Amino acid sequence: MTSLSGKRLLLGLTGGIAAYKAAALARLFVKAGIDVRVVMTEAACRFITPVTMQALSGQPVYTDLWDARVRDNMAHIELSRDRDLILVAPASADFMAKLANGEANDLLSTLCLARRIPLAVAPAMNVEMWENAATVRNVARLREDGIILMGPAAGDQACGETGMGRMLEPEELFEAVAALLGPRLLKGKKVLVTAGPTYEPIDTVRGITNQSSGKMGYAVAQAAIEAGAEVTLVSGPTALATPAGAVRMDVRSAREMHDAVMARAKASDIFIAVAAVADYHVVGEKSHKIKRGTGNLFIELAPNPDILATVAALKKPPFCVGFAAETENLRANAQAKRKHKKIPLLAANLAQEAFGRDDNALTLFDDKGQHELKRAAKIAIARQLIAHIAGMLKKR
Ligand code: C5P
Repeated sequence: MTSLSGKRLLLGLTGGIAAYKAAALARLFVKAGIDVRVVMTEAACRFITPVTMQALSGQPVYTDLWDARVRDNMAHIELSRDRDLILVAPASADFMAKLANGEANDLLSTLCLARRIPLAVAPAMNVEMWENAATVRNVARLREDGIILMGPAAGDQACGETGMGRMLEPEELFEAVAALLGPRLLKGKKVLVTAGPTYEPIDTVRGITNQSSGKMGYAVAQAAIEAGAEVTLVSGPTALATPAGAVRMDVRSAREMHDAVMARAKASDIFIAVAAVADYHVVGEKSHKIKRGTGNLFIELAPNPDILATVAALKKPPFCVGFAAETENLRANAQAKRKHKKIPLLAANLAQEAFGRDDNALTLFDDKGQHELKRAAKIAIARQLIAHIAGMLKKR
């Protein structure tokens, strides 16, 4: 028995070379006790046969809108009604275009349109197709419509080109689905997350910032949503899409981030400070562009408020989690920081091995000691962090 036993998935396959990976994916689901019903488009059947998917899922595979095996010939309605989730993997550019426009001219697209349950898609296509303006538009539309995007990833492609558009690996898709269908570890909890860098203006066009991409904080927000939490994401400047379901507040400077956080901290159950907050701001920010001169220019810096320490010092603070990006002496610095900020949990990483990347490795420090989260995709690390937080909250 796993926590996924008895969950019901509709696995849709569309036409793409990544369809062969759907076989391994179906196996992972079945092994975890998930009931997998497979629906394939005509193009998907060119890449992998329904017989293979039938053998692996242990159930008949559906391909036809007019399938008489389904009650009243209503395959497009009936096949999703007893399911918990639809996952389309691989999701081709064409299928995503159909979804974005509400088109329904085959079994899988009609099923998706007639569904009452969440829909997730795992895009798989050539990098140029992924980056084409039409696909970018469609992806934005899918996100707005609440459709969950799983991936894609960057890397080598079957066509010989390299770039964004590879379908996530079966294990990664399995983890993503497990997070959606598994126990809601933070159900009903209000979670406040900071993410990204801050920007401290020097004049109207220049400022001081850092190399944080925001990816870790956004992954934490996403994992908290998956765990059933109500998430507010206070974000410094990033180029990332808001995780579906999060309330996002954009800020620029550390002091703006401080004000946005303090306005919500008391009403939050959990505060996770992932942002790389500037320690200083510029004194006497100029309201015009500073002209080039001949001599040296001096910028005076004054300390910013420590947002995390301020929240942790509240009378009834939320459960506070800090992040520490160190460049050396990870353990000693992290433990000292946890004590100094008076927080129950601190996640530490080496800045040079985390900033801007899609993967990360974390060491968690709490009262019990330290716990290693091995290098993995940031979303996978974020899910483990959320599980750790939920475990600590349960014991309180
Ligand atoms: O002290 P240090 O900046 O290394 O601490 C990092 C942790 O503190 C992170 O969780 C970060 O979000 C938070 N922090 C903060 N306000 C600051 C500086 C850091 O909330 N001014």
